[in-house]
Amino acid sequence: MWRRIVLTIAVVAVGLSSEARDKKMDAFIGKLMSKMTLSEKIGQLNLQPGGDVSTGGAMDTELSGLIARGELGAVLNTVGRDKIRAMQQIAVEKTRLGIPLLVGLDVIHGYQTIFPIPLAQSCSWNPAAIEQGARIAAEEATSDGIDWTYSPMVDIALDARWGRIAEGNGEDPYLGGLIAQALVRGYQGDFSSVHNLMACLKHYALYGAVEAGRDYNTVDMSHLRMFNQYFPPYKAAVEAGVGSVMTSFNLVDGQHATANRWLLDDVLRRSWGFGGFIVTDYSSIAEMTSHGFGDLKHNTELAMKAGTDMDMCARGYVQHLEALVKEGKISKKMVDDACRRVLEAKYMVGLFDDPYRHCNMSDAEQAQHLFTAAHRQVARDFTAETFVLLKNEGQLLPLRKDATIALIGPNGDTTDGLLGTWCVSRPKSDAYPTLRQAMEHAVEGRGKVLFAQGCNIAPYGRMRQAGASWYIPEVDSEKAHREAMEAAAKADVIVCAMGEGADYSGESHSRVTLDLPETQMTLLRDLATLGKPIVLLNFAGRPTVMSWEKAHIPAIMNVWFGGTEMGPALCDVLFGDKSPSGHLTVSLPQHVGQEPLYYNHLNTGRPTADYDPKFRNYSSNYFEVTNGPAWPFGFGLSYTTFRYGDLQVEQQGRTVKATVSLTNTGEREGTEVVQCYIRDIACRYSRPVKELKGFERVTLRKGETKQVTITLDEASLSYYDMQGRLFFEPGEFDIMVGGNSQDVQTKRISVE
Ligand code: BGC
Repeated sequence: MWRRIVLTIAVVAVGLSSEARDKKMDAFIGKLMSKMTLSEKIGQLNLQPGGDVSTGGAMDTELSGLIARGELGAVLNTVGRDKIRAMQQIAVEKTRLGIPLLVGLDVIHGYQTIFPIPLAQSCSWNPAAIEQGARIAAEEATSDGIDWTYSPMVDIALDARWGRIAEGNGEDPYLGGLIAQALVRGYQGDFSSVHNLMACLKHYALYGAVEAGRDYNTVDMSHLRMFNQYFPPYKAAVEAGVGSVMTSFNLVDGQHATANRWLLDDVLRRSWGFGGFIVTDYSSIAEMTSHGFGDLKHNTELAMKAGTDMDMCARGYVQHLEALVKEGKISKKMVDDACRRVLEAKYMVGLFDDPYRHCNMSDAEQAQHLFTAAHRQVARDFTAETFVLLKNEGQLLPLRKDATIALIGPNGDTTDGLLGTWCVSRPKSDAYPTLRQAMEHAVEGRGKVLFAQGCNIAPYGRMRQAGASWYIPEVDSEKAHREAMEAAAKADVIVCAMGEGADYSGESHSRVTLDLPETQMTLLRDLATLGKPIVLLNFAGRPTVMSWEKAHIPAIMNVWFGGTEMGPALCDVLFGDKSPSGHLTVSLPQHVGQEPLYYNHLNTGRPTADYDPKFRNYSSNYFEVTNGPAWPFGFGLSYTTFRYGDLQVEQQGRTVKATVSLTNTGEREGTEVVQCYIRDIACRYSRPVKELKGFERVTLRKGETKQVTITLDEASLSYYDMQGRLFFEPGEFDIMVGGNSQDVQTKRISVE
């Protein structure tokens, strides 16, 4: 099974050719399995959380018992190499066959050096930098006992209400695919280094399409849409050789994704050639009961028959598989296949060579790999590329370092609040600076920073009950407001650090409002009455509605959650040491009622122009707002300006080359993302009004011009049918190029 992965990676690793390694692995695992009992094989398919396991006698007896009896193949959610080594020792030294555990953790956007949330990272449109970030995360995690990460999460998400939109790469399947591959390469490398981390593609499939943006909700969609809009990033990661896949919590065609044979076997294994192992999401087999599929034993049978190899937390496999085999409902071969795939993964990670390879470093050695100055510098540079400048009236930004700056807002003086969702492992809160501290450092000796929190982050209620943003102090509203107004009155410029709390997005954090909370809006409106220049830094894990802000605040930058180096990175951009270059990978709506809002939609029979100010009866539009977003997919300003020359389109058979000249017309260096979209004009199935098919990040010095050519091949002009077959339909295409998905030049061509 792994042959495919090894061949995909196509490198010589551990001194062996991939084929020789394959043969060696087959022989080793064959021999090992010949000694295993059925129950030991089933044990390899059991994954349990080890969060409460600790060294020094306090180890959870149930877990240590499971390990010692050979009933556990893998653990998740344990942080720290000493705890991990203690568990590994039981597996290796106390079990009959000494098979090591596979140790997994959600290393989603960094381990100790925390990078921006994935949604922010995607706004860099820089897969190479994303790959480097994953490489660093892998180095850090593998130095602290981790073998396996539950990343990349590549679910396409179109509805901003869904909290897990923060964990993905936005609304575009093509860009999502490139990023998925970059992450797999970054984590796994070629498996030859001790620092390679097994990746886990998730959540397969369609989890981002939950109805109403409510987490864990129903999904129901056509196969045409699956193959064209939702599957490409999963497929891309498989092509990059991802080692494991996690199923999703939702239904696909009315069956649970964990027990859907078409999804797991027909599409993933047979059609795409996935050769690694499949793990469920947390407790999915048990949750199938609530979905209405029957009891745990029955669901265990369904999941195994569909091709799911490892059971995360439900204990269905460990409790019922043996009986199911004895009753003849599950064949021994099925268990063997699943067990083999799990053992192959352990082999690839190198655990049979040295089970302690990831948990045996001395403190001094480990310190050379964790949260190092070099890693933090890479993160700082990259984080600056993820901020998206939305508005900069009168070139208010960059700011002068000799100014008096009022820094106001609940996100201005927090460290935990910079990290965003999913940082199970993270450095201590005082190991990296808040924005306030970074700003004070940046202006030291020249300017002044006056900080005031100004308000509570939100009117609390259900949110506080959920423990949301516990790290931001609750303040007396009137007093905080007064302090903020006083600080602002003394300043030359006001910088507002507002928006969501870092934990307002992520798993189970769905929302029905997308605006800044009322507490913050009240303050922002009052600050605007002072008539001073205001910069709004919008912290967000999802698209935000900022209609009032767009009309009244001169400078707005979407800064997401940038991780441990966010403070210094923000200062680099705010004070002009770097120019912003991020471009949106999600559409920012004018109103929550437009959700799901995405640029690559199908047309209706009664379309209305995106910004048609007039309401048109019996057309597809709303009473209150125009159809378009407040800021479109692909949008992002720089401190310089760019001029696009006329679009030239050249054709050679089914290869199309779109060329523009790009000139930096401003006063400083800057980076633009040149984007190329197509529309297939007439086909058998309705196609989107725009589809991203290529882009290039171009850095130009002041006054510099460059010709940019984006080449589209036949595959770029093709699409998938209901069976997932890629096909090309001759006919007319619009080729569009521009700096965002709205402002494009278009040429219509015919391709035969
Ligand atoms: C999430 C997964 C995660 C898993 C293990 C689940 O609740 O959906 O994304 O990898 O937990 O922590």
